[in-house]
Amino acid sequence: MLSKSASSHPKSEFSKTRSVEPMGLDRNTSLSALLVLLSCFCLKFGSAGSATDTITAAKFITDPETVISNGGDFKLGFFSPANSTDRYVGIWYAQISVPTVIWVANRNMPLKNSSGILTISEDGNLVVLDGQKKVLWSSSLTNSVVNLSAQLLDSGNLILQGNTTGTMIWESFQHPSDSFLEKMKISTDVRTGKKVQLTSWKSPSDPSIGNFSAGIDVRNLPEFFVWNDGSPYWRSGPWNSRVFIGVQKMKTVYLDGFSLVDDKEGTFYFTFSYLNESFRKDFVLNAQGNLQEKYSDNGEDWEVVWSTLETECDVYGRCGAFGSCNSKNSPICSCLRGFEPKNAEEWNRGNWTSGCVRRTPLQCERMNIGSERGKKEGFLKLTMMKVPDLEDWSSDFEEKCGTQCLENCSCIAYAYDSGIGCMTWTGSLIDVQKFYTGGADLYVRLAYSELDKMDNVKVIGTVTVIIGVMNNHRSNIHWHLHLLTLLILSSPLSTKYRREDKHGENVNQVLLQELPLFSLQELASATNNFHVSNKLGQGGFGPVYRGKLSDGEEIAVKRLSRASGQGQEEFMNEVVVISKLQHRNLVRLLGCCVEGEEKMLVYEYMPNKSLDAFLFDSVKSKLLDWRRRFIIIEGIGRGLLYLHRDSRLRIIHRDLKASNILLDEELNPKISDFGMARIFGSNEDQANTKRVVGTYGYMSPEYAMGGRFSEKSDVFSFGVLLLEIVSGRRNTSFYDDEQAMSLLGFAWKMWNAENIVALIDPVIREPCFEMEVLRCIHVGLLCVQDFAKDRPTISVVISMLKSETIDLPLPKQPAFIERQIAPRADSLNNVPVTMVQGR
Ligand SMILES: *[C@@H]1O[C@H](CO)[C@@H](O)[C@H](O)[C@H]1NC(C)=O
Ligand SMILES: *[C@@H]1O[C@H](CO)[C@@H](O)[C@H](O)[C@H]1NC(C)=O
Ligand SMILES: *[C@@H]1O[C@H](CO)[C@@H](O)[C@H](O)[C@H]1NC(C)=O
Ligand SMILES: *[C@@H]1O[C@H](CO)[C@@H](O)[C@H](O)[C@H]1NC(C)=O
Ligand SMILES: *[C@@H]1O[C@H](CO)[C@@H](O)[C@H](O)[C@H]1NC(C)=O
Ligand SMILES: *[C@@H]1O[C@H](CO)[C@@H](O)[C@H](O)[C@H]1NC(C)=O
Ligand SMILES: *[C@@H]1O[C@H](CO)[C@@H](O)[C@H](O)[C@H]1NC(C)=O
Repeated sequence: MLSKSASSHPKSEFSKTRSVEPMGLDRNTSLSALLVLLSCFCLKFGSAGSATDTITAAKFITDPETVISNGGDFKLGFFSPANSTDRYVGIWYAQISVPTVIWVANRNMPLKNSSGILTISEDGNLVVLDGQKKVLWSSSLTNSVVNLSAQLLDSGNLILQGNTTGTMIWESFQHPSDSFLEKMKISTDVRTGKKVQLTSWKSPSDPSIGNFSAGIDVRNLPEFFVWNDGSPYWRSGPWNSRVFIGVQKMKTVYLDGFSLVDDKEGTFYFTFSYLNESFRKDFVLNAQGNLQEKYSDNGEDWEVVWSTLETECDVYGRCGAFGSCNSKNSPICSCLRGFEPKNAEEWNRGNWTSGCVRRTPLQCERMNIGSERGKKEGFLKLTMMKVPDLEDWSSDFEEKCGTQCLENCSCIAYAYDSGIGCMTWTGSLIDVQKFYTGGADLYVRLAYSELDKMDNVKVIGTVTVIIGVMNNHRSNIHWHLHLLTLLILSSPLSTKYRREDKHGENVNQVLLQELPLFSLQELASATNNFHVSNKLGQGGFGPVYRGKLSDGEEIAVKRLSRASGQGQEEFMNEVVVISKLQHRNLVRLLGCCVEGEEKMLVYEYMPNKSLDAFLFDSVKSKLLDWRRRFIIIEGIGRGLLYLHRDSRLRIIHRDLKASNILLDEELNPKISDFGMARIFGSNEDQANTKRVVGTYGYMSPEYAMGGRFSEKSDVFSFGVLLLEIVSGRRNTSFYDDEQAMSLLGFAWKMWNAENIVALIDPVIREPCFEMEVLRCIHVGLLCVQDFAKDRPTISVVISMLKSETIDLPLPKQPAFIERQIAPRADSLNNVPVTMVQGR
């Protein structure tokens, strides 16, 4: 359509359009004008508007005419930017009232008056001409075709094609301005170096090419960069198939559909699609070099939902080499631990450009067990970091990543991301930032004397746990102290995997984690020589002691009983499982101790002991009001969700019960005791074991009777726990003595009698929370269904608990409504049992 009017331009930028005489006689293009007039008549009176979105040599446009895409989403025509009288040919959103130009043709050659023409030239190019027919801009095709037409698509792309062949020979999406739209491809050809990138405007009133550009850097892994005059200004960090690991708050809500594509012919590109067609979204590189993600859901204006420069720390290399930026600190820059300013005077003035240098040179001696401590080196682990500008990368597994870096003297840092692989650095560490969410763990190589100095990092030694060199000799366990490699030639995990995990070659490979190592002497003095008055309780495999380290930190020490040969497996299992996990609803492992026959695990100390000590105590239970109990239920659910779904490993706890839920000072729950946890491979949903370990009353029927465990068996235990929390009574306590009912049986009976209120602990019976409590009981009953398939997953459980709106399915009769026949139920309340099943 050749619109003769500029009145559809809604706001200021476009209303600057000066009035023109469409058929001005002063033009020396009267023939053209005549053609325009003819075209108009054609359109007005002619057949269907099939050419509304198209320009050809015959159907060109002059200022202020526009064409509009078929669906009406975009317009192509003449405009003036804010506070400017210059005229440009561009494309803008037709339906958003704030003028938003996404593409400009004659960026560097503005029209000085309204005599501009957009047409197809004789040599087969799309051109912008001024009143003198001078070419101000051209699509610059050298071997063009005849009978070319330009069509504006609803994606905002302007394409040139030969009308006989129909093949596209040019598109504006391959020559972007400052906007990155859906379906556009920001690309780099590795072989030719050809880039499709964004370039900023000079200013909001000047679309000519500014100082900043944005595109893909392909030196290592493809990464999004913004450059200032060709120097790095911001970087995204590599893409791990889900997020850019150098972006702190990646709004995945809006970024779904974002992807990195390798076309296998040497070109990498980023592209995205809308998550929801009902809103518009794009990225714009503004004149200050800030790449902003904007979206509009109302057709009125834009909301900036994310930008590359949220804090000063986002500017590339803000703190120089070996400096680390933390936007919450003042000043924002500090040297990485073990490093000091290269030029202290400059640094203290706030000029961080020279960065930092290493304080103690690296010796880089190969590990030599038994050699002098001070000569060794190790890695300092920094969590949640924007890792430095990448230098090298391999697809190695995590475990290999650390050992290879340690063995290679030129490797000064490494990081691992499961979606990327092993990242290593040899030169300097540039553009490091502390994040508060996301990021990756960065391991920085330091001389041992530096590691040793750090008082608030409890590094007494570093144990590198490597599991996976497999053979069958269970006794072949070598523990090496200090900065050590602990090679477990046969671990319970490895043998289990070989037996039960047929898919996961990767999973049974090696697990590596640095764990602080405590000395026996240190733990003995912390626990008053494991004095009985320090004993907190008796776990399945040995006593747990309370202790206080020399720096005042309180700890809990689980000491494997020397008598228990069996505990060794669970000990290693626990080290491996929990050292990989970090969640506020899981108890934190601080380190371990292995000396001679002694094996101990050191945990953060939980002053309020375990949930059962509160819940089933007539006095203390009053401290747990309904609010608190709900927080506990939710917290356990979240911890379990993390184990099942959110951590890098999939873990089935297998022994969830009230005595394994520890409470911190504020009575927040933390799941503990991973001695029986099992790591699942990614393809594994269920496993069988002949050795059923668990606790009566909490075990699902398929596990207790068939040895089958899965996420759903943990959900069963969670359901029992939930009902215990709501009722304040143990599953194994006596209800309705004659019928020998379990708590589950009693709950089911009350459910059917529509008297479920009778189950609620009198301590928390408050009318205002009744609906919420009843909802919990309902969810609890769904969790303890007889068949695993009838139980919800833990993520569904969490949404059921929180949402008042979801209609819950009705529970069927739960499992184990009768008290389980177990030898002396009350003596078994908290003791894990082992039942070896015959085939
Ligand atoms: C246009 O000029 C006005 C007045 O000088 C100013 O307030 C406004 O910020 C300018 N707009 C832009 C986009 O530069
Ligand atoms: C181009 O269009 C003209 C009519 O405008 C037609 O005569 C000519 O054959 C076309 N050329 C080709 C190669 O299709
Ligand atoms: C091709 O171009 C010629 C002249 O430019 C026009 O007459 C014809 O209708 C076009 N054909 C198509 C399929 O658009
Ligand atoms: C899309 O967004 C609109 C407005 O925000 C919302 O009403 C609608 O439910 C969304 N649709 C989907 C499929 O998410
Ligand atoms: C762009 O570069 C020029 C010259 O290098 C400089 O004067 C100008 O301030 C820069 N603009 C921005 C926004 O950095
Ligand atoms: C900061 O230090 C660098 C390196 O010594 C120097 O080149 C630069 O001029 C300094 N910048 C300022 C603002 O002082
Ligand atoms: C050490 O690492 C560097 C850089 O990654 C690499 O070039 C070199 O080959 C490595 N040396 C050995 C012995 O692996």
